[in-house]
Formats: sequence, C-alpha cells, structure tokens
Amino acid sequence: MCGIIGYIGPKDNLELGMNSLKRLEYRGYDSAGMAIIEEGKISSERVAGKVNELREKLKERDSEGTPCLFHSRWATHGKPTKENAHPQFDCKREVAVVHNGIIENHKELKEMLEKEGHEFSSETDTETIAHLVEKFQGEGSSLEDAVRKTMELIRGAYGIAVISTKDPEKIVAARMSSPVIVSSNKEGGFVASDPAAIVEHSSKMIFLEDGELAVIKRGGVEVTDMAKRKKEKEEVRIDWDIKEAQKSGYPHFMIKEIMEQPETIENTLRGRIIKEDGDVKLGGLEQVREELKGVEKLTLLACGTSYYASMIGKFLIEEIAGIPTEVDLASEFRYRKRPYGRREAFAFISQSGETADTLKALEEVNNKGALSLGIVNVVGSSISRYTDAGIYNHAGPEIGVASTKAFTSQLAVLTLFSVFLGRQRNLSLNEGREILEKLESLPSKVREVLEKKDEIKEVAKKYGEYENFLFMGRRYNFPTALEGALKLKEISYIHAEGYSAAEMKHGAIALIDESFPAFAIALSDSMREKMVSNIEEIRARSGPVIILGTEGDEGIKEYGEDSILIPEVTEPLSPLLSVVPLQLFAYYVAVSKGFDPDKPRNLSKVVTVE
Ligand code: F6R
Repeated sequence: MCGIIGYIGPKDNLELGMNSLKRLEYRGYDSAGMAIIEEGKISSERVAGKVNELREKLKERDSEGTPCLFHSRWATHGKPTKENAHPQFDCKREVAVVHNGIIENHKELKEMLEKEGHEFSSETDTETIAHLVEKFQGEGSSLEDAVRKTMELIRGAYGIAVISTKDPEKIVAARMSSPVIVSSNKEGGFVASDPAAIVEHSSKMIFLEDGELAVIKRGGVEVTDMAKRKKEKEEVRIDWDIKEAQKSGYPHFMIKEIMEQPETIENTLRGRIIKEDGDVKLGGLEQVREELKGVEKLTLLACGTSYYASMIGKFLIEEIAGIPTEVDLASEFRYRKRPYGRREAFAFISQSGETADTLKALEEVNNKGALSLGIVNVVGSSISRYTDAGIYNHAGPEIGVASTKAFTSQLAVLTLFSVFLGRQRNLSLNEGREILEKLESLPSKVREVLEKKDEIKEVAKKYGEYENFLFMGRRYNFPTALEGALKLKEISYIHAEGYSAAEMKHGAIALIDESFPAFAIALSDSMREKMVSNIEEIRARSGPVIILGTEGDEGIKEYGEDSILIPEVTEPLSPLLSVVPLQLFAYYVAVSKGFDPDKPRNLSKVVTVE
C-alpha cells in the first residue's frame, strides 16, 4: 500500500529520498510528501498527486539536513488531498510521521487527544500517531520511548517512521503487521517499507518483526522490543541487481517484466533440477523433507493472481504427486470453520510475502500447529519468515502493479514442488525426468511467444473500445482465463470475466451479443473439442471471438475473428505459455486507451490491509 522511506546520513538527502520513493511508487500513488529537520525545524512538502509532482516541487529547494522522511500514499482514511498526504504532524510541527497501514482505533484516540487540547488538521488515522508521540515527548519521554508508548495504545496494522526536532539525530521505526526494513552502512541509515527502495544503497537489510522498534542513527541501527529488550537481528542479503528495479529502456515496468519471463523462469529453475534422478532439489524444504513424506492433504492459500497460480498448482500437485489438494482464498479461509487433519500441510503463495489477508491465514494455520510452507518472491518478507519452510521464486523485484513474471515463476515453482512431492511418492524416475525436461524447454517457448508481441498489439488495438470481455478456458487453462480477465480489468478498466467455457451455458451466455467479445484458450490438448463446442455457442449468439490456439492447428483459426497461435506445449505446463499473450493483450489495450499500466487506479502492489 503506502511506501515509506527514512534516511539519515551525509548524502544529498532530497535526491536519495526521491529516487528511493520513485521505486516505491508502485505501492501507492495518489499523493506524496516529505519532511526534513533543518536548523532545528521540520520543513516539508506535500502534493495531492504523483511522486513526479513532488520531485518538481523539490527542485526549487536546497535542503542539506537529515533525518528526512518520504512517503507515497494509497488512501485508506481521507481523500487524497495535500492535507491528508504524509508526513503527518503534531500540533507544533515538532514531530513528523509516515505510515503504511491502518490504525483501527484512531477515532477513540483522536477524541481523547482533542479533549487534552490537541488540534488535528487532517482526516487521516496517521495523524493520531504524531499527536501521541508529541504527548509522550511532552511528558519527558525520548523519541523511542514515546513511539513505544504510542504502540501500546494504537491498534491495527502499521509500519511507521518518525522524526522529531526534540530528538533530531535519529529516526524511529516500528512495525505491526506492515513491513519495515532498516539498514545502515557508511552512507547512513535507512528505513523503508520495501527492499526495492534502498537496495541501491545497501544490500544487507534487517526485517523488523511485529512489536519491534528500531532506532536508526548515522552510526548504526538498534532494535528493541516492547519491553525495551535489545534484539540481535540477522541481516538478510538481498541480491537484486539495481537494474532489475529500473525500466531499462522499456516504457513501463509491466512490459519489461512480461519480456523478462524467459529469464525469470530460468532463474526459478536454476540449480534445482536433478535430471538424472528425475528429481528436484529444493534447499528451503530440506528441514521438512521427512515430514512432507507423510503429508496426505495440502491446502494452497493466496490472493489475486497468486490465487490463480494456486488453482493451477492444485491440478499439478494432484496430477503429478497424487496428493489431494485444496485451494482457498486466503481472505476467506480464516472465516470458515474448517476441520484440520493430522497429516495436513498448508502452502502460502505470495509475490510480496506481505499480503495482509495471506498473512492472517498463515497466523491461523500456525496457531493450529500445522505445517506451513511459503512460495514467496521477496526474500526475507513476512510470509517467508513466519512459515516453517519454503521455496523462493527468484524472479527478481516485480514493480509493475499487475503481476506477470511472478505468476509464471509461481507456476514454475509449483511444478518443481509437485515433482519433489511426486518423487517422494509414486512418480517414477522417467515420469519425473519427462516433466522436468519439458519444464526446462519452456523459457525458449516463452521467447517465441514474446516475438509475437506486435501481432498481439494489433489484435489489442481492435478490441480496446469494447466495454465487456469474456475470457474462457478449460481445465489447466480455466485459471489462466481468470488471470487474463484480471489483467485486462485491472489496467484497462474494461469489465472482464473469466469463465470455465463449460460454465457459460449455465448462465453467463445470456450476456453474449455482438458487443461482448470472448478470448478463448483453445489449445491442441484434451479440451480442444469441448472448447470448440463452447466457442460455437458464443458465435451462434454473434459474440466476436479471439482464439488462442496451438501452432500447426490451422483449423482452429476458423472459429474466431482473430487468432494467436503459440508453440505446442504439454497440457499441465501450458498456462506458463498461454498466459503470456493474455498479459500482452491487456498491456496493449491499456496503452492504446492512454492508461498507465504501472499505476492502475485504486490499486497498490502490496496489499498490507485486510
Ligand atoms: C494482480 C495482482 C494481485 C496480487 C495479490 C496478491 O495483478 O498483482 O492480485 O496477486 O494482491 O499479492 P501477493 O502475491 O503479493 O500476495
């Protein structure tokens, strides 16, 4: 959701802060702001607009001071106005706070503070924090103690960074259910809500746990808990190349990340395939290897795109490993009364590793004492830390708000995981070897699909003016259809539905007419004939159809107004390939309509609120 940055040190603070903030813009972009302690006073700049507007404003300034805070906002409480932008301040502007999350009891606290004479100037929940820190500093507390006392009163989710003119040589950061990363080196001390913001300056980072508080000074970082006990924290090394967090000549992160997929799948597979054994080596699962042998049921939990990857994961695990597998939306899971079996394991699939709904489901599973696994892209993120074991995607930072390369890397991980579990059970050496060989050949096939990008662009241009869209597929490509629809709606704002093609006749077909086109995934696989029948039903009602078929199947083209053919691929792995034209289609529709696909309205890359 919101992006937070703090910096204390000798570098050009405005330049450093703005560059870091730009890397976090994908987390929220309805307003932005900064505050800095200069000559004993807090000065600030806030805009109701994007980070670039803040950058323009700051061009007129020459600030040498630190510490400083920067923020890009995704509104939760209060409209995206200048007054509601962060940093938020106390009455005397001696305290500045940036916050990611929601303070659930802010109304009661505001009433209490107003009775004590505090005056509020915004509609945000965050401002409460600034006034509480002011109150406790006024009673004689140091900045860190004032923040600790504030933490005792506030309820909800927060990652915060606080500065104060009364204690100007430090930044205090704290975490409860929202990510906070701190780091320090000879260039200074940093706080951020995401490693991507500061990886340029420091590759070693400390991830705060819930209830922890960090004091960041020029010389280092000290982490304590609520009882003021010093915590020895391990530094996590983030091996991202800074180029991965830049557009590298592409107009948008989304297209860069779509085009990167052959390499990201290769990175996901690297060093993990043992071809001679038809097996897979997953270092992160070593400690639970024996326990996994006895697992009789798996449940995959995730949200959004990661949930669609999990749906495909269910098919893969059941088919390859023969383990009954359930999939659930993490947000719904914890609200149902679910009996737990003795030999069950749960896998949490998340690009960011910080999605609040997924984290809450993990908390539920951990409380029940069941085995929890993570399939996560961001190294060191909360889900990777709170699960018993796990597998990293190694897809590099995904900055585009619409998930693309993370999805295909999740599918690659889920295939590896299925083979790993299968080889512990009845999957033969030859069967394992065959799947892995096919998996290894996928990056070059994805490259071939990407070469068709201009063809897909032309198709996209024709369909940008429609208001509704249907995506349909069967079996492995039913979730791909759901993902295609999600991509289109989130970046081009066209209403799109994903359907199992078979389900159409049970209701949704009533919508079809010449103004309601369908994208049909009709590959040369076990579902081709059934797909053709379902496509015919659409055409009989004058619905325009775009076919996604298999190269060599020229006959499929006659069922659509337009068609895109992709290389032949085995059915269980086909979503890794078939999703790519759908990503490109959504991207080019959005661009042809003049939208910025990296900043879709109302969305944030990392959803840290429930
Ligand atoms: C859609 C998208 C979201 C995320 C969802 C879960 O393009 O990116 O639907 O997939 O918010 O996020 P993670 O995977 O970070 O848990």
